[in-house]
Amino acid sequence: MALVNIPVEQITLRDRAAVTSFLATHGIDYERWTPAHPVAADAPADALLAAYAHEIDTLKQRGGYVTADVIDVKPDTPNLDVMLAKFSREHWHDEDEVRFIIEGRGLFHIHPAAGPVFAIEVEAGDLVRVPRGTHHWFDLCVDRRIRAIRLFQDTSGWTPRYTDSGVDKGFEPVCFGPSYLTRG
Ligand SMILES: [Fe+2]
Repeated sequence: MALVNIPVEQITLRDRAAVTSFLATHGIDYERWTPAHPVAADAPADALLAAYAHEIDTLKQRGGYVTADVIDVKPDTPNLDVMLAKFSREHWHDEDEVRFIIEGRGLFHIHPAAGPVFAIEVEAGDLVRVPRGTHHWFDLCVDRRIRAIRLFQDTSGWTPRYTDSGVDKGFEPVCFGPSYLTRG
């Protein structure tokens, strides 16, 4: 279950309906997906894509996505820091950022055109769709682990376009979910 944190207002949303409606006001879709049949988080990519084929196909039709893949990021992924640095600065894309989390956690910060910056912490079972053009940045949580299905309208559009606003520097890239509260 995703959590939303609005630092300037010192508000954290933990209720599914509240999270969904808050994100919807910013054009961000949030859903919980369950597989058609049980599938292990470490199953081959093809098996994961098959288990979620219904949800993926529905979303493809809604959003014009043409491809789906599975990305794996682990603490020992080569050049992990270089990869993460590309996305931890405020940027936008020419296409939607669509992620369904299989395993691990991640933290999206969203900088809306109107209203304060907020963070979405995602975990397994969460689908988020951030519309093209939305200013945002992304960090992993302390376990530096995420496995996710990605959907693309056009993979050539998958380039971060940096705002260089520096806004991202004002926010701690720290996950705030229950399992992280005691880690100091
Ligand atoms: Fe992005």
